[in-house]
Amino acid sequence: MNQTATHMQNEVQKRRTFAIISHPDAGKTTLTEKLLLFGGAIRLAGTVKGRKASRHATSDWMEIEKQRGISVTSSVMQFDYVGHRVNILDTPGHQDFSEDTYRTLTAADSAVMLIDSAKGVEAQTKKLFQVCSKRGIPIFTFMNKMDREGRDPFDLMEELEQVLGIRSYPMNWPIGSGKQFCGVYDRVRNQLELFQNGDHDQIVVRKVSGYDDPLVREIAGDYLYEQLQEQLQLLDVAGDEFDLEKVRKGELTPVFFGSAINNFGVQTFLENFLELAPQPQPRNSSQGEIDPTTFEKFSGYIFKIQANMNPAHRDRIAFLRICSGKFERGMSVKHVRVGKDIKLSQPQQFLAQERDIVEEAFPGDIIGLFDPGIFRIGDSLSQGAQDIVFDELPTFSPEMFSKVSIKNALKQKQFLKGIDQLTEEGTIQVFHTTSGFDELILGVVGQLQFEVMEYRMRAEYGVDILLHRLPFQFARWVIDDKLDPAKFRINSQLVKDKKDNYVALFENEYAMRSAMEKMPQAKFLETAP
Ligand code: G4P
Repeated sequence: MNQTATHMQNEVQKRRTFAIISHPDAGKTTLTEKLLLFGGAIRLAGTVKGRKASRHATSDWMEIEKQRGISVTSSVMQFDYVGHRVNILDTPGHQDFSEDTYRTLTAADSAVMLIDSAKGVEAQTKKLFQVCSKRGIPIFTFMNKMDREGRDPFDLMEELEQVLGIRSYPMNWPIGSGKQFCGVYDRVRNQLELFQNGDHDQIVVRKVSGYDDPLVREIAGDYLYEQLQEQLQLLDVAGDEFDLEKVRKGELTPVFFGSAINNFGVQTFLENFLELAPQPQPRNSSQGEIDPTTFEKFSGYIFKIQANMNPAHRDRIAFLRICSGKFERGMSVKHVRVGKDIKLSQPQQFLAQERDIVEEAFPGDIIGLFDPGIFRIGDSLSQGAQDIVFDELPTFSPEMFSKVSIKNALKQKQFLKGIDQLTEEGTIQVFHTTSGFDELILGVVGQLQFEVMEYRMRAEYGVDILLHRLPFQFARWVIDDKLDPAKFRINSQLVKDKKDNYVALFENEYAMRSAMEKMPQAKFLETAP
């Protein structure tokens, strides 16, 4: 192997690109911040958190974020930790997340599922989990807030299996909980990690010969010791065995108990995660699988477009996941859809949400490209004689719908232009009615997207829009040669998407199921064909 190839392999091997999936309030901001602190990416605790609450100068791109104190779109953070380069793909923590959040997950090679141990698996976690699970990526679980009175750990494992359908392997096990929580027994390293409330950064580790070591009794006391023996014996006998193959396929999730706010269990988690999580994985394309360790030419795809990160400028940033080859600032690459070479001169990288110009980057890295309006979600960029077109990114089924019209009919042209450009960014889908007047219906995954749309149409296109909420909750792409629109009149409506595919909107699950029963020959797809 030549020197360049070896260098590339090393760069790929050291990278880990993942997303944290969780329900709001589980502690994602807190955990992210602790991880960044380990990597030295931020110096002050409270930086990420502080931004979330009040300091919005760099990350905000519009008033809505300021007003609500939330991050509307996801961003990327990078840090180094003991020979590894870590890329965290952030996903909005607020309930009003969007299709963008789902799509961001396609750029990750693994996911960290963060769960509030008092609440268990919550709605948003479930949705995000399902997207990861469909891709078969490895999922690592962090059971957070062990310093509080939480649910029984066995219960939590049971819930992972019942609600998410994934088996779990506890890498460590809590000793007591809430006020009695005194730490965890690390099943992999055979050691005790002791929790000392009030002294957050000093975590005491004691090596033991096994969980029946007398030291465990001495530290935990008789009652917790007996409880721990019983529980760990049960796990050894009845629990799953650790199987890295299954972890890699997303069939078994390693579980870590800890407390992000106290920095308890975070470092052990990070170290185990870096060891077990996969390096940047191959992606499918028109040229077959593009494996970053063997394919030398540069290639990548755009998975997200974000507008106006800096309110002073109307620029858009296209987020590119590098799939193969080395990226160098100023290099020329082919924009495959357009068929032209473009120069990547102002690429940006994200360090704890500050933007930095990036000089070089490798597979697994995410770079932000300045976009004067030339990119679309799913666009491929490649170098070399053969164009590479990566598999199309999935379109996810919206769950909320509104009819949209304009207040001032004279602004029709700007209105259509705005709808066209904003739907291209991929957070909102637009549908056309199939009977009567051609009316436009917008579909979103989270309510906030409607407000964002309203705001941006006014701010960027000078158009006031009217949104009229429709009662539908489900959308399914319908594939049927003999489709009869008359069948979609009760509690449903047939519309067309941008590409003229038929989409049925349903008010409830019952209406959807009965349509499926009435049309057994038709296919009802959750994502666009
Ligand atoms: P999110 O990004 O997932 O929405 O969650 P975030 O980190 O903001 O955490 C939500 C709340 O949970 C915060 O409290 C945070 O301090 C708390 N938290 C996070 N990890 C732990 C933990 O391990 N143990 C306990 N007991 N609490 C934890 P808050 O009251 O909403 O905010 P703040 O007043 O602490 O800033």
